[in-house]
Amino acid sequence: APVKVTKICCIGAGYVGGPTCAVIALKCPHITVTIVDLNQARVDAWNSPDFKLPIYEPGLDDVVRQARGRNLFFSTDVDKGIKEADLIFVSVNTPTKKSGVGAGFAADLNYVELATRRIAHVSESSKIVVEKSTVPCRTAESMRTILEANSKPNCRFDILSNPEFLAEGTAISDLFGPDRVLIGSLQTPEGKDACASLAGVYSNWVPTNRILSVGLWSSELSKLAANAMLAQRISSVNALSAICEATGANIDEVAHAVGYDSRVGNKFLRASVGFGGSCFQKDILNLVYLSESLHLPEVAAYWRQVVEMNEYQKKRFSKNVVDTLFNTITGKRIAVLGFAFKADTGDTRESAAITLIKDFQAERALVNIYDPQVEHNQIWADLTEAIPNTPLENIKKQVTISASALEACKGAEAVVIATEWKEFRDIDWALVYEGMNKPAFVFDGRLIIDAEKLRKIGFKVKTIGRGE
Ligand code: NAD
Ligand code: UGA
Repeated sequence: APVKVTKICCIGAGYVGGPTCAVIALKCPHITVTIVDLNQARVDAWNSPDFKLPIYEPGLDDVVRQARGRNLFFSTDVDKGIKEADLIFVSVNTPTKKSGVGAGFAADLNYVELATRRIAHVSESSKIVVEKSTVPCRTAESMRTILEANSKPNCRFDILSNPEFLAEGTAISDLFGPDRVLIGSLQTPEGKDACASLAGVYSNWVPTNRILSVGLWSSELSKLAANAMLAQRISSVNALSAICEATGANIDEVAHAVGYDSRVGNKFLRASVGFGGSCFQKDILNLVYLSESLHLPEVAAYWRQVVEMNEYQKKRFSKNVVDTLFNTITGKRIAVLGFAFKADTGDTRESAAITLIKDFQAERALVNIYDPQVEHNQIWADLTEAIPNTPLENIKKQVTISASALEACKGAEAVVIATEWKEFRDIDWALVYEGMNKPAFVFDGRLIIDAEKLRKIGFKVKTIGRGE
């Protein structure tokens, strides 16, 4: 019969482990939830008395305030967390491999494996082990083999796949009302019982018709498939944006007209300077690698093109800036508004802004960056990584970080909107215009400004997906 879960441990206190398990704790006061991580600074931030949490996510501090110390705990004592739990989420990072077999494509499963081995090593009772990280198909099988080969007598391990579909910036509302919760299990009686135990946790707030039970491999593949298809929509709309700019069509109108078809749907069709974030590119490359490993080169090429279109979109955007500024931006000041990969997050992983700034830097432009959330240290770390063989003090000769959008635009020739922060809609453009060199250009990579209004002020405006 299904075990009733009373103690949960989550390994990994990152963007996924933190918010998901904080919400479980909030919604299930009868369950003790301990989130463990090896990173002391991160755990300290989760425990900080003034709720300066390690990630910015609207509504998150409210959840943590209500549950922390009641039935939600953060700790670096990984072993204790594992020992006490009856259900363990593995929510560690699975970045793209940087070297070795599959470098640049395959997922690095080292962190998942280390966490799994730790579970096998320290467990003294049976556990349900839940793969929460996004992983290649059949990873659960490897986890099961490792656990079974290392378990003590009277310890049974049941493996579940429970991929996470939250998006950053809306994590809390996504978790409160998920479109679906997906649970993959072996189709054995024990596997089905484990699935029922986890479903029992979610059913405290998720309607049961939204909790889907499938096989392990389907669950793992569905996560990669969902991200690949979401990213493919953006690459499709971005490909069309290039046609719009060349023809005078308007991508907003095209996306609206196409999305009105209920079979297509109107969400996630916003043209942009390119998608970013820690997962879309990583998960598609993972799917490409999987397809190649399975000797399906046509399938691999199909998905690879989604990433290539995204690279093209970023390049096309920075080239447009150079072309428009009379074919040279050397020594010219460019204000980049937004550094996060999307609004309402401080996360910068794979942000399109990084690529743009790298391109501008290579053209020897001067860049002023403003982002309302991203820490300065993070910006410097990202630029140092993106611009190889250039010491930070040299980068700082070309790049500065400003305290406001207005300050960033002062003395600039062009403003580039890279992230769709709400505050960029309310900028006092007349004031910005006064402070800029003329002709003053605005490049809207996020479709958020009223181009006509800005043209009346005197700006020259270029919007992604809009011909003149
Ligand atoms: P993250 O890097 O923010 O967090 C992972 C954490 O795991 C880190 O704090 C790290 O210190 C910790 N960790 C690694 N190995 C450990 C170990 N052996 N013991 C204890 N702690 C360990 O990563 P994330 O963004 O939370 O992503 C985690 C997984 O979830 C990835 O597979 C990702 O693809 C997937 N995912 C992410 C998102 C998202 O929005 N970020 C959404 C859905 C799924
Ligand atoms: C995405 C998925 O939406 C989540 O379901 C998934 O759980 C997550 O990846 C993951 O696996 O990590 P996330 O990357 O946080 O979530 O954010 P999205 O809202 O999907 O945005 C991704 C990128 O696409 C951003 O750079 C965003 O600006 C861009 N985007 C999004 C567009 O350019 N146009 C759109 O219409 C939508």
